[in-house]
Amino acid sequence: MKKVLTIAGSDCSGGAGIQADLKTMTAHRVYGMSVITALTAQNTTGVFGVTESSPEFVAIQLDAVFDDIFPDAVKIGMVSGSRIIEVIVEKLKHYGAKRIVVDPVMVSTSGGKLLSDEAMDAVVTKLIPAADVITPNLHEAQALTGMTIRSRADMRVAAEKISGFASGAVLLKGGHLEDSADDLLRCGGKEIWLQGARIDNPNTHGTGCTLSSAIACNLALGFGMEESAANAKAYVTGALKAGLDLGRGSGPLDHCWNISY
Ligand SMILES: Nc1ncnc2c1ncn2[C@@H]1O[C@H](COP(=O)(O)OP(=O)(O)OP(=O)(O)O)[C@@H](O)[C@H]1O
Ligand SMILES: [Mg+2]
Repeated sequence: MKKVLTIAGSDCSGGAGIQADLKTMTAHRVYGMSVITALTAQNTTGVFGVTESSPEFVAIQLDAVFDDIFPDAVKIGMVSGSRIIEVIVEKLKHYGAKRIVVDPVMVSTSGGKLLSDEAMDAVVTKLIPAADVITPNLHEAQALTGMTIRSRADMRVAAEKISGFASGAVLLKGGHLEDSADDLLRCGGKEIWLQGARIDNPNTHGTGCTLSSAIACNLALGFGMEESAANAKAYVTGALKAGLDLGRGSGPLDHCWNISY
């Protein structure tokens, strides 16, 4: 069985973060493991508290995983402190981790900044260069490029700019576009649009986490970058279309939509 590791924060309500990642991995029939960078108290209506793991404890978790069950792919999500980012990058390098997907969680869905300037700098100078693919949303791409992104034409310019300092592929997510949900993959100098009709479902909690872990699963399963991104996009589309409706706010996806019992 292929093994995939997520390095991210816990979402006690189960829709995003570690919990979304592990469900996505199970739905892809890969073995899921988790290194927890923070505990969050959140649900579909908001975030009520965050307790960060210490960088030392993140390091021990990484050693425990890599010493024993070596992951075929790694997804990195919420990492809020520059020390934690340094520890992760050091350990991934030390163990020779492969197929690294970075979801640069920097801006909340409502547009608020989630990272200090120092942590933001560590994401750009340390984490992004370690990734085989990064998956910014429109807000994050704006923060990374300093430009306003509203259209597909803006997305092309932004993806090219980000490719200038990312060593791997860039998947610019269009989930926050108004008229479509097209994502743009820039990979090896090529531009590939992953077309997606906007699904009229207000329950989009954890779409970003789910997409990045689905990419990691597909890479672990042996697919190339283009196919992995396209398969992951199709998986998220199916999970949105399934129409699960839980909680009073923006609810979670149906991660198991593709499994028959
Ligand atoms: N309403 C929608 N209909 C179809 N696809 C969507 C919709 N919303 C998001 N997506 C898709 O979900 C994936 C995640 O994109 P999105 O832009 O929502 O990421 P994000 O903002 O990082 O998510 P999160 O809020 O979980 O961090 C992308 O493939 C995007 O196209
Ligand atoms: Mg996101």
